[in-house]
Amino acid sequence: MKVWFLTGNEGKVREAKKIFNQYNFQLEQMNLDYIEPQVDSIEEVAKEKMKQAIPYLPGGSDALFVEDAGLFVDALNDFPGVYSSYVLRTIGCQGIIRLLQHLRSEDPNADSRLRKARFEAVSGVYFQGKMEFFNGTCPGKISHKEFGKNGFGFDPIFVPSDLDIDGNPAKSGDIGVISTHGETFGQISSDAKEKYSHRAKAVNKAISWLENQREHHK
Ligand code: IMP
Repeated sequence: MKVWFLTGNEGKVREAKKIFNQYNFQLEQMNLDYIEPQVDSIEEVAKEKMKQAIPYLPGGSDALFVEDAGLFVDALNDFPGVYSSYVLRTIGCQGIIRLLQHLRSEDPNADSRLRKARFEAVSGVYFQGKMEFFNGTCPGKISHKEFGKNGFGFDPIFVPSDLDIDGNPAKSGDIGVISTHGETFGQISSDAKEKYSHRAKAVNKAISWLENQREHHK
């Protein structure tokens, strides 16, 4: 089955393609001049994008996939959130670091608390007249400097929380079984990022739903 991904972001396409391919879905990028909605949650953004794209779905048996994500910084009352892409284009990673420069502790646990942040993603799928939305979260913290050139967007300033044996985020202060050892998403491989990623979690849920729908329509 062909799945059309509405996005202009090549980094997102790369990450989503890898996951969709594992489940025998052919992911194609859909490039459409859509209006970026000004709403308060990434879920609403994803829903608006979906509405705009449905009329352009090329084949009746194809599926449509949309995704919206953002960086939410606790000390900034969840800013930049839905404004993440605008903030990345304007003040960038350095701007976020400057906004947090007064928040620093020599104690690593206190530092993680002060600089706590999370990535959130919402995935939406449309197939044969039905649509569903799924979310994924990745907790972590903002680093003190930019590190690494891998990934995209805010990856060079985001250190994900360690994971426990089940792949869930370890409690603050606990050392996890899976850890980047303080490295940012910009410093690790895309395979390693997938274990922590908000996007991977939301995409996997969307794929499970789509697999069920595919079975149903056989
Ligand atoms: P959008 O979903 O394209 O609106 O993404 C919002 C902003 O968050 C974009 O500027 C992305 O670069 C950034 N962003 C989304 N997901 C990630 C990620 O996994 N790593 C780093 N930045 C991200």
